[in-house]
Amino acid sequence: MKKNILITGGAGFIGSHVVRLFVNKYPEYNIYNLDVLTYAGNLENLTDIDTKENYKFLKGDITDIEFISSIFKKYNFDAVIHLAAESHVDRSITNPMEFINTNIVGTVVLLNAAKDAWKDNFNDKLFYHVSTDEVYGSLGETGFFLETTPYDPKSPYSASKASSDHLVRAYNNTYKMPVVISNCSNNYGSHQFPEKLIPLSINNIKNNKAIPIYGKGDNIRDWLFVNDHARAIDVIFHKGKQGDTYNIGGINEWTNLDLIHKLCDVMDKKLSREAGASRKLITFVTDRAGHDKRYAIDASKLRNELGWEPSLQFEEGIEKTVDWYLENETWVENIVSGDYAKYYDNMYKDR
Ligand code: NAD
Ligand code: DAU
Repeated sequence: MKKNILITGGAGFIGSHVVRLFVNKYPEYNIYNLDVLTYAGNLENLTDIDTKENYKFLKGDITDIEFISSIFKKYNFDAVIHLAAESHVDRSITNPMEFINTNIVGTVVLLNAAKDAWKDNFNDKLFYHVSTDEVYGSLGETGFFLETTPYDPKSPYSASKASSDHLVRAYNNTYKMPVVISNCSNNYGSHQFPEKLIPLSINNIKNNKAIPIYGKGDNIRDWLFVNDHARAIDVIFHKGKQGDTYNIGGINEWTNLDLIHKLCDVMDKKLSREAGASRKLITFVTDRAGHDKRYAIDASKLRNELGWEPSLQFEEGIEKTVDWYLENETWVENIVSGDYAKYYDNMYKDR
């Protein structure tokens, strides 16, 4: 069926994978990628598909009420897949207000525009909100996040995402807006901005710089290959039950230190370094304020109801990721110059 789909944040890490998947897999859909191109948005992420007939880029801010309402009128969207956000926990600690504006206010602006555009007929419409496992807070040594786990966000980032999830559910309950939400664990893969643990460490190892590990490195994350997140979004978009929430996770828990050991060993091989050479770059630095101890997702609802499973083992995913960063040096270099260099120096100056 023909559809006009608005994807927000499509120039970012996960958004670019979702845009690519939808543009290539569904030539019958028109994909509109709305992105304001913050430091994290990069149109170079989409050069392989940006001349396709069913793809259009719209530069704009999700908090701009007039602009958002005008594109809903102009392009007659049938669905929204909403990924645009401020996404980095450390930045939310230094500058919470941007997270409140983009993640909360921006989401409400989109919800209002969709409600106004679709109010006469919600049939075949969908507002898909992409969220995070961090809304559930922090786990101890055991247990998993379920869709029913009470919200307990602990950073300005996760609190802003939790607020946006509540607002999406409120529009479903109050206005009967057809919505679906997914909450995913940590993603890794190509095109991730090198302020996040894995691409930052790959870049530092390559350049023989210190690898900063917060605290003792015993915090645990559940890592999912980004293409598998995009596949999950595809499945939920097409088969998910309206009003429902789906947890997405990699069933792949690592302490940060074990993860970095693994990454160092892969990098030593790829760079033909002596075994153990990159591990020497590990440097323990001051912990993140309020650092969540452990995230782990129970994704059995998604597996049992919609048949999704991760397609890759971590060993394969991390090799592919390292290969991509080593083969795409210009992409990394364009980013790590300029503003990023200032951010990096500032973020790590007291650690
Ligand atoms: P990202 O920071 O790489 O990309 C965010 C994109 O949103 C960028 O292209 C940026 O330019 C755009 N954007 C930011 N503010 C905007 C605004 N006001 N108007 C329009 N566009 C704007 O983020 P990501 O890691 O790709 O995350 C995408 C989404 O997935 C986010 O909603 C995030 O909360 C969620 N998520 C991320 C992860 C992860 O591990 N990265 C895991 C689960 C959920
Ligand atoms: O769980 C999903 C979330 O995963 C997403 O919602 C966020 O958008 C995404 O950024 C990610 O959040 P994290 O805070 O878990 O990711 P980050 O890569 O920043 O950090 C991963 C772990 O590594 C975390 O325990 C902090 C630690 N860390 C991070 C950096 C940048 C370090 O030890 N050193 C570092 O330099």
